[in-house]
Amino acid sequence: MQIRLSSQIAEISHSNLKENFLKEVSKGLHPFIDSALDKNLIKRLKTPKKNFKKIIILGIGGSALGGIAVMRALYRPLKHMEKDSTHFFFLDQIDPDLIFHLSENISLKDTHFIAISKSGNTIETVSLFKFFYKKILDAKLNPKDHFTIITAEKNGFLGKTNLPLITIPKNLSGRFSVLSEVGLLPAKIAKIDIAKIQKGASSAFEHFKKEPAEKNIPLLLAEHQFAHDRAGKNITVVFPYSYRLNRFADWYIQLMAESLGKTPEIGPTPIRAVGPTDQHSQLQLFMEGPRNKQFLFLEVEHHHHAPQIPGETYTLEDLVNAEKKGTEQALAKAGIPTQTLIIPKITEETIGELIMTLELQIALLGKMYSVNTYNQPGVEEGKKIAMKIIHRTIHE
Ligand code: PA5
Repeated sequence: MQIRLSSQIAEISHSNLKENFLKEVSKGLHPFIDSALDKNLIKRLKTPKKNFKKIIILGIGGSALGGIAVMRALYRPLKHMEKDSTHFFFLDQIDPDLIFHLSENISLKDTHFIAISKSGNTIETVSLFKFFYKKILDAKLNPKDHFTIITAEKNGFLGKTNLPLITIPKNLSGRFSVLSEVGLLPAKIAKIDIAKIQKGASSAFEHFKKEPAEKNIPLLLAEHQFAHDRAGKNITVVFPYSYRLNRFADWYIQLMAESLGKTPEIGPTPIRAVGPTDQHSQLQLFMEGPRNKQFLFLEVEHHHHAPQIPGETYTLEDLVNAEKKGTEQALAKAGIPTQTLIIPKITEETIGELIMTLELQIALLGKMYSVNTYNQPGVEEGKKIAMKIIHRTIHE
């Protein structure tokens, strides 16, 4: 395990939590762990036969955010602008103007679509699939060359399309599926070494199993979060000081919000800030506003490049890390609880470690809050009303 945790001492108040959790893991009750450690996953991941210039991923929520986080972290920044590289575009929204202009501007023969939906029926993903499928047919191209489907439900809409199909386990919750086919297929197409991502995840899980409570990073993260939440710090700000980790924050926010927000009385509200940019936006509020927040910083110790600032003795890397330390120390001085996950360098292995560590933290918090971490009943009501509205509108 390469990543480290720097935090104020958290008291371990949940005795036997780890032991009970590991018993549940052995019974298959936390499927994200089995999926992340699955040695056969890489062989099963079939990439498109041809090299495409553009890969468009259709998916939303847990079917998109993990893949986005991995690609932002590990696909070199702005690589799509380099000659002969592939452009990956995650379409996790149905904005009419965006979709119109995208469809006007892409070369369909150079594009492969990966439609990801665990249920195979999510209205946004299915609607985008229908839209682009017709475009492919109209262009007289063979949909079998231009689509890959990832789903858990062979009988869902997408599962029944007779297109190249990758199936995922039915018991794997969407937001915990980043280390499955869902999050790793785009990475494999991008020639990211996904075996190393798995190696990192496995090392983080070993760390969790072996390390005593006072050194156990997922456990300390969970205890710290829970204790401060119960003391009124019920807003958690996740604060990466790294462009490569800015979408990681979005993934983590969904993981925390959709997994733990289950009862009116308790549960954290996660929000995102990205450093140093948001020092010029939200920091005033964080420093002097309501004392209802705790912070989880993500710090990258060594970047792949450290451009020198002309006329100065320091690099951009020195500057970004000094700003992060300055912000954290100022918050701590004001009595605001903070923790930092220190990533020595962004690599496939450390990203695997980071994902597994934070998934374990949220799964442990689910036990502490006594909620069902893996369901999301609260999103159904709005969906039902939307369906009534759209059918009423169409038939009026
Ligand atoms: O994390 C989750 O379970 C959700 O965010 C789902 O991923 C999201 O609702 C999309 O569902 P599906 O993958 O079935 O299209």
